[in-house]
Amino acid sequence: MGYTVAIAGATGAVGVEMIKVLEAHKFPIDELRLLASPRSAGKTMRYDGREITVQVLDEDSFTGVDYALFSAGSGITKQFAGACVKAGAVLIDNSSAFRMDDNVPLVVPEVNPDDAFGHQGIIANPNCTTIIMLTVLNPLHRAWGLQRIHAATYQAASGAGQAAMDELAEGTRAYLDGKPFTPQVLPYPYAFNMFAHNSPWMDDEGYCEEELKMRNESRKMLHDDALRVHSTCIRVPVLRTHAEALNVSFRDAPSLKQAYALLADAPGVRVHEDRAANRWPMPTDVSGGEEVVVGRIRVDPTLDNTLDMWVVGDQLLKGAALNAVQIAELLAAQQ
Ligand SMILES: NC(=O)c1ccc[n+]([C@@H]2O[C@H](COP(=O)([O-])OP(=O)(O)OC[C@H]3O[C@@H](n4cnc5c(N)ncnc54)[C@H](OP(=O)(O)O)[C@@H]3O)[C@@H](O)[C@H]2O)c1
Repeated sequence: MGYTVAIAGATGAVGVEMIKVLEAHKFPIDELRLLASPRSAGKTMRYDGREITVQVLDEDSFTGVDYALFSAGSGITKQFAGACVKAGAVLIDNSSAFRMDDNVPLVVPEVNPDDAFGHQGIIANPNCTTIIMLTVLNPLHRAWGLQRIHAATYQAASGAGQAAMDELAEGTRAYLDGKPFTPQVLPYPYAFNMFAHNSPWMDDEGYCEEELKMRNESRKMLHDDALRVHSTCIRVPVLRTHAEALNVSFRDAPSLKQAYALLADAPGVRVHEDRAANRWPMPTDVSGGEEVVVGRIRVDPTLDNTLDMWVVGDQLLKGAALNAVQIAELLAAQQ
């Protein structure tokens, strides 16, 4: 038996990857409904050897839908969630619309799969940096009890959508040609530059919103309100795939050898270290892959019970599209 699956935001950076992941994973689909704004209506997109025409997302889009994967921004999710749930579809959302809602599970299948089954029609995908971070940290947390995370992120243009990727390419070309270029999507010139994450600055907390998402969403998924998370999120002129430098402290003393063994066995994780070549995980190597790749795992001698590591993950895949499809797979496997 196959399902009826809808993708709201099918033409975007994440939506395009959702179509590819559904096809690659052979998710059982009878009908795939591709939904976007009126700008894309009538456009065709390829899935499993067929051309599917993009339809305008509206209140009637979800009749007969089993799983609705949303990646069209939080405003669109909030606008159509009611109609979607009323139609009986399970809404799996990539935006921040409902992530911190007590009635909405926030799920990474490798981390807290059981939470998904308590859903009341909506399941949220965490923020991409948080998914990538916790996919790697969860096996270490199970062994030694995570107490503190200090993260520095190096975030690619793709995290801000297709328009930001286009802007990075166009801005770089203009820079090399010595031509003026005024950014429209991101706040500052991106080529050969880096700047603090473009989410709003939360004055009372002293963090930008992206940094608070890493703290609040990690606490929610690990069911630990005391978890200490401090991060600095930076946009770097990389087209696709985020990187994170993580410094993490545990309740119990970790062993470096066991950390390698746990990560080698962890689902969705790959350890990559080539010490002779001084080659560690890099966005260009990791882009397009499903695994989060970790390397440079070291003991931090300046703090008790602390490890340091370098983590790279394709945030369009594990940080968004892949995680959403994995949630649908988790639910479908229980039926
Ligand atoms: N990029 C990432 O790495 C990432 C990671 C995690 C979560 N997310 C979240 O996923 C969502 C999408 O991100 P993205 O990067 O894919 O953005 P994007 O490339 O800008 O794509 C946006 C999508 O939303 C559609 N859309 C916009 N306005 C619409 C409307 N009024 N009605 C129906 N569809 C509409 C667009 O359709 P048109 O093509 O017709 O305009 C397009 O398909 C956002 O909530 C984002 O925060 C993104």
